[in-house]
Amino acid sequence: APAYKHILIEKKGEVGNVGLITLNRPKALNALCDALMQEVQQALEDFDSDPSIGAIVLTGSEKAFAAGADIKDMQNKGFIDCFGGNFLSTSWDSVSKVKKPTIAAVNGYALGGGCEVAMMCDIILAGEKAKFGQPEIIIGTIPGAGGTQRLVKAIGKSRAMQMCLTGDMITAQQANAWGLVSSVHPPDQLLDEAIRLGEKISQHSKVIVAMCKESVNNSFELPLSEGLHFEKRLFHCTFATKDRREGMTAFVEKRKPNFTDS
Ligand code: CAA
Repeated sequence: APAYKHILIEKKGEVGNVGLITLNRPKALNALCDALMQEVQQALEDFDSDPSIGAIVLTGSEKAFAAGADIKDMQNKGFIDCFGGNFLSTSWDSVSKVKKPTIAAVNGYALGGGCEVAMMCDIILAGEKAKFGQPEIIIGTIPGAGGTQRLVKAIGKSRAMQMCLTGDMITAQQANAWGLVSSVHPPDQLLDEAIRLGEKISQHSKVIVAMCKESVNNSFELPLSEGLHFEKRLFHCTFATKDRREGMTAFVEKRKPNFTDS
């Protein structure tokens, strides 16, 4: 495995089928510098292509999931640096391009880019003390990694607008009530909960899970008629797999399916 400086990599779960990426830049509250995001991209790609892995959990520390893009790195950038280097692009986008399900386990601060990376994941679970926010406006900029787009889709325009325009943080309880996260857990149980969820997903056929994820994600991209069409075609495609036949046969034979990811 590559030697990482800003992240930790483990395989979790009873049979090691959940990939865990822990952001580990504690002195900067996991601020997402380029080097860190490049490591995240590499780790995600490795887990995505590892046939033993069925789901990926992304987490930080109890104090911070991630306090945003690195403000010290950005402080002296000019437009040309950002435009020319396509700042906040390739490695950031990679989080939303993973084929396998991704779960963000958010304890502590998920601010700016931290909130945006969490929203790039398929599911967000929060610890009771988690705080979410898009505070870019306070430092004279705007969200640049999906905050103004994904937040609207997650919690609606009025709430997203308020968060982006004030920079105020919301609590885990508020995030739960607004539907930004799926559930809230005691901080010390959050990671286990996320791993259990990853294990549950990993029991299913990986190829079918990937199709399902792709179809749900398309609901953000396509008008309803096209989304329904795409879903129907993928549903038909599941009938080209051995796992679809195995799943239904196992049900009829009253036994557990033995998926082969084929
Ligand atoms: N970038 C760089 N360094 C950061 C950072 C960030 N986003 N967030 C925190 N740090 C650093 C601090 O500078 C400090 O370092 P030093 O010890 O060297 O001074 C260290 O982490 C600890 O931070 P604090 O002392 O501030 O800790 P705190 O507990 O008092 O406050 C906090 C915590 C409320 C999260 C506060 O650190 C904070 O407001 N951070 C910035 C949050 C922010 O504005 N994020 C958005 C960034 S812009 C962005 O993300 C753009 C985008 O759309 C992608």
